[in-house]
Amino acid sequence: MGEDHVFLRACRREPTEYTPVWLMRQAGRYMEEYRDIRRKVAFLDLCKSPDLAAEVTLLPVRKLGVDAAIIFGDILLPLEGMGFHLEFAEGEGPLIRNPIKEREDIERLRIIEPEEHVSFFLKAIEIVRRELEGRVPLIGFSGAPFTLASYLIEGGHSKDYSKTKGLMLGEPSWWHLLMEKLTEVTIRYLRAQVHRGAHALQLFDSWAGCLSPRDYEDHVLPYSKRLIQETGQQAPLIHFSVGTSGFLHLIKEAGGDVIGIDWRMDLKVAWERLGYDVGIQGNLDPSVLLSSHQMIEAHVQKVLESGGNRPGHIFNLGHGVLPETPVENVIFMVEAVHRLSRR
Ligand code: CP3
Repeated sequence: MGEDHVFLRACRREPTEYTPVWLMRQAGRYMEEYRDIRRKVAFLDLCKSPDLAAEVTLLPVRKLGVDAAIIFGDILLPLEGMGFHLEFAEGEGPLIRNPIKEREDIERLRIIEPEEHVSFFLKAIEIVRRELEGRVPLIGFSGAPFTLASYLIEGGHSKDYSKTKGLMLGEPSWWHLLMEKLTEVTIRYLRAQVHRGAHALQLFDSWAGCLSPRDYEDHVLPYSKRLIQETGQQAPLIHFSVGTSGFLHLIKEAGGDVIGIDWRMDLKVAWERLGYDVGIQGNLDPSVLLSSHQMIEAHVQKVLESGGNRPGHIFNLGHGVLPETPVENVIFMVEAVHRLSRR
């Protein structure tokens, strides 16, 4: 594959014949083939089996006609090598049995060597690259330091992130040490993915929206910025977050060739605010995919109109595909994006 695939051109804000589209969580429980595999294999075991992870990665490419593949895995996979006990309890989401409580827990945290500690993930990238035969580019990814820190401190998902904020504001020197270490791990992790074949990268700062602009700027931005500076030259990087419409300018300042936004803000307004010197990714509400084809088409049209046919728009949902989504609606949506945006 050359560097001229629509998705990669859009990452560079070059004109394309149509708007490229892929979906966060495009391989997942809404697909029967995925559920069949999961009946036999637990989620973590699936992530750790390169052949199976590669197969799952390719499902949506074959079935949906999306313009990019995203390697199957999870943002929490590197945490085990760092010394944390990770579990995915059925229907409960991720759980860390030994979350950070003391400074020693942070001091103990190992800076992983990706080739050693997440070799299965890198192996899956290699397999997918081979099997894709240049059809579409492959996206590698990582959690951003803040979002990873929130899992390590809360031990799982949280409503208010009070423990994370407590440590951030109450123990600044611990916070700094933790964020430094997570930044270092993430840099190594993303570089290793590009080295093994990822064409582009997405950084997930999914929970940054729980912060005030001021705290994001003081306690998170410097780390994300360094990380993006040190990996962004290797491949185009999409910087995604949720609920950060109140400080999009800071997300931009942290960096990224493309800024991924959720659906709570009009894409046109978001792009005006960001400025046209970055690309934008988004932002259909995932729930729209639970409605009728007619409704889906109308919403796709609105998002495309907000993008204004400007080079640098990558169509996506504002967050991941919901498990109850009918797969035929996703196929219809991808087709509608291509049809309605063709220039
Ligand atoms: O997008 C893709 O298709 C690639 C694979 C991928 C998964 N998770 C698969 C997954 C990616 C890129 C992620 C990222 C991820 N993981 C994020 C950032 C994106 C976001 O949603 O904001 C976060 C916060 C996680 C942590 C995580 N992993 C949670 C909160 C959960 C449980 C939530 C749920 O939907 O059950 C997971 C599990 C997970 N990751 C599943 C999948 C397909 C479901 C596991 C299953 O099969 O039961």
